[in-house]
Amino acid sequence: MCLDKARSWIETASSITALTGAGISAESGIPTFRGATGLWKQFRPEDLATPRAFARNPELVWQWYDWRRSLIHTAQPNAGHGALSELETRVPRFTLITQNVDGLHQRAGSRNVLEIHGSIWKLRCTKCRRQWHDMSVPLELPPHCQCGAFARPAVVWFGEGLPEDVWAAAGQASTECDVFLVVGTSAIVYPAAGLIDLARAAGAKVIEVNVERTAISAYADCALTGPAGEVLPELLRTPPSSASRLAPEIER
Ligand code: APR
Repeated sequence: MCLDKARSWIETASSITALTGAGISAESGIPTFRGATGLWKQFRPEDLATPRAFARNPELVWQWYDWRRSLIHTAQPNAGHGALSELETRVPRFTLITQNVDGLHQRAGSRNVLEIHGSIWKLRCTKCRRQWHDMSVPLELPPHCQCGAFARPAVVWFGEGLPEDVWAAAGQASTECDVFLVVGTSAIVYPAAGLIDLARAAGAKVIEVNVERTAISAYADCALTGPAGEVLPELLRTPPSSASRLAPEIER
């Protein structure tokens, strides 16, 4: 059973890195981007999540981010976030790389979190590039920097580079781990998805947790099917004597 193997890899690992995507926050009520109910079904990323979109209509972009902030503000971390926070306490070296900007991993207690796509709770000045946290909901729109210039969400938009220091740390954590957990991501947005190949090439055991098959399921050493809020706690639980009640996972 690949679940049993995955458990033993985790129990014996001295270094674990996790890469999470929007799927880990789905059970907290936060919409994913793709799939039947994804945000990109209702909105066009080119209108809301690119530098050109912001230059063209900053008010519209800020209204959308303020709406997402109001959704996230009322959301609570779920058992999937909690399981990763628990895992961090059990293993000597743990790095959580997240594509999510919602901050739920930190609210669940995770400490070593690399936000490779930035944070929806941070703003950055479009002129002096100063960056600051602003947790207010709703925001006073459009927000300005102390220097008087427009502020933008401190998130990574399509066509933008990732924060260099964070990206370097994510690359290092991907090549130096025994186990690489991939949770709740469609694994089609690069360079983030490239971390999975990096980990595999460096010899890590890749364990995927997703409700459906993805672009990397066939390359995972173990692909577990089910919601992260159920699978991750199960993965960390010492195996019950009877057969696990998880849906049969996809064998390699
Ligand atoms: N548990 C586990 N996985 C889930 C769950 C769940 N409860 N619900 C959905 N999923 C899976 C979906 O099957 C899908 O594979 O989560 C994944 C979500 O994929 P996307 O919506 O594409 O989100 P993500 O992979 O994080 O997108 C990457 O794209 O739009 C950009 O910057 C944005 O960071 C985002 C990036």
